[in-house]
Amino acid sequence: MSDVHVHRVQPAWKKNALIDNDTYLKWYADSVKNPDKFWGKHGKRIDWFKPFTKVKNTSFNGKVSIKWFEDGLTNVSYNCIDRHLKKRGDQTAIIWEGDNPYDDRKVTYNELYAHVCRFANVLKKHGVKKGDRVTIYMPMIPETAYAMLACTRLGAIHSVVFGGFSPDALAGRIDDCKSTIVVTADEGLRGGKPIPLKDNTDKAIDIAAKAGTKVEKVVVVRRTGGKTGWVPGRDVWYHEEAATVKAECKPEKMKAEDPLFILYTSGSTGKPKGVLHTTAGYLVYASMTHQYVFDYHDGDIYWCTADVGWVTGHSYIVYGPLANGATTLMFEGVPNYPSQSRFWEVIDKHKVNTFYTAPTALRALMGAGDGHVKKTSRKSLRVLGTVGEPINPEAWEWYFNVVGNAKLPIVDTWWQTETGGILITPLPGATDLKAGSATRPFFGVKPQLVDGEGKVLEGPADGNLCITDSWPGMMRTVYGDHDRFVQTYFSTYKGKYFTGDGCRRDADGYYWITGRVDDVINVSGHRMGTAEVESALVSHDKVSEAAVVGYPHDIKGQGIYCYVTLMAGTASSEELRKELVSHVRKEIGAIATPDKIQFAPGLPKTRSGKIMRRILRKIAEDDFGALGDTSTLADPAVVDDLVANRQNKK
Ligand code: WTA
Repeated sequence: MSDVHVHRVQPAWKKNALIDNDTYLKWYADSVKNPDKFWGKHGKRIDWFKPFTKVKNTSFNGKVSIKWFEDGLTNVSYNCIDRHLKKRGDQTAIIWEGDNPYDDRKVTYNELYAHVCRFANVLKKHGVKKGDRVTIYMPMIPETAYAMLACTRLGAIHSVVFGGFSPDALAGRIDDCKSTIVVTADEGLRGGKPIPLKDNTDKAIDIAAKAGTKVEKVVVVRRTGGKTGWVPGRDVWYHEEAATVKAECKPEKMKAEDPLFILYTSGSTGKPKGVLHTTAGYLVYASMTHQYVFDYHDGDIYWCTADVGWVTGHSYIVYGPLANGATTLMFEGVPNYPSQSRFWEVIDKHKVNTFYTAPTALRALMGAGDGHVKKTSRKSLRVLGTVGEPINPEAWEWYFNVVGNAKLPIVDTWWQTETGGILITPLPGATDLKAGSATRPFFGVKPQLVDGEGKVLEGPADGNLCITDSWPGMMRTVYGDHDRFVQTYFSTYKGKYFTGDGCRRDADGYYWITGRVDDVINVSGHRMGTAEVESALVSHDKVSEAAVVGYPHDIKGQGIYCYVTLMAGTASSEELRKELVSHVRKEIGAIATPDKIQFAPGLPKTRSGKIMRRILRKIAEDDFGALGDTSTLADPAVVDDLVANRQNKK
């Protein structure tokens, strides 16, 4: 890739770095040659009640079974809190920065211990025990982390649902894992606007009840003091309950493979899947990647801007940093409130050393102009990171030059909800950078590119990204549906984990993620199944058929383009267009807001009735000169109408 500008590791990045390039190469070779030895050593980075004697016991074939450290006993909250108390009880564990810049809080490890124990005791008081599922539908406040850690203390399985999801989406997730307790807040606060979390929860509980899951208890954290509905007997205030319990709670001794959490994510088909992660392997991997990818040193102030409702928040706001005894910053607000300088002001205010965010936020801030960045100091920064979607080279260079003054490494980290932690990434002191490349695999990760038929591609190549062997942080199953797990990830290319991503490997062995090759789109770093948006559309009584595709969007990465066929006799109108947009928002949430809706009398189908999405994608991209072969269509004429009425004319 001689045409790509290489940003070499700078002497300052190497100076105190945990890993230099020679170490990377050696450790990587060791990790793939002898995973038992490598992970046997690194498995000891967490504390064990009973040490493991077995390390890796995994198979990607047949029924697919993944076990790591299986005979050990440990506890996640113990590792994230108790074990740090002696050395860093008075150190800040969580810096909370509120939506309002005058609103902040610091929580020490000692305080975290007391809060988490109390939260665990409140859950216990209301019947939560090992193995129970607890749904957490919360804003970005420390109590959310307390609730998650409290679950792990008791051995309960949490299912955090992003606060931007609608009551319908929340209900589906409550019902899927049969969760009978929900932790929520009266309201959230983002960009100065309240989000009615408790009211949404009330609606969701009614919907879930109709589906067959009865929520017995709702623990409500008071955030804004706003008015909410209340069901006596079912709803309890967290602060009232917390006052009735002790600030001590013994952590359960958990088996390494006991379930830790469920996190729902979108796939190319059907409803969202409950990705299940288990205890020890996940924590070993989350903490190890947090340490080495961000070159984390004791005392660093670390900030990941994700929401805890996504996997990035789980692994890199809560579990990875806290397992390492770090100070993790939790931000309630949005990048452009009260001004476009907010991120950089927060960095200066709290002297942040490591900043980890999404390309979509960078693109939006880049568009707002350099002045908003330049008026801040950002002197404390040492490492920059991105995650969630491919970063375009322009945004990368802007991040590097304007935010980092051409002096800071950027780690472009590729991973997924399913992978639990970062799989492909630069390491700050080791890896020469190329704008837009996630570069090289982390320790123990074996990427492989295959073509559509599964033929392995060697050397520089463009293909589908698979991982050929297990790493400790990977998901273990789809909650309640192991067959779906095997089918989704291990059947396309037998014996390999298929990521769903396309990828190019260059002559230096660097990986460049090119985006999803399945029917998943990535909108502002939020992952969404086109099938979900389609089913939301067809649930409207005027819609007979819908097909949804992504198209390139300057800020969001991908926008949502919907083709909608109306019921016979229904006229299209601007009003109906608006009605459909708000219908999708109601069904899924604002993150699924359609950008374009095209009313289409017919969709391009093969003679066997399959919608040809390739054609729909091309039209959505306004690239219909390259529609390819349309001769297999049942009615080639529909394409002319689609092109004539396209909504995305450049
Ligand atoms: C995409 C988020 C390019 C990818 C952690 C993946 C990326 C999906 C990157 C997972 C990156 C994530 N470069 N693409 N650095 N990171 N992706 O489950 O398509 O929300 O499959 O996990 O995001 O999204 P998820």
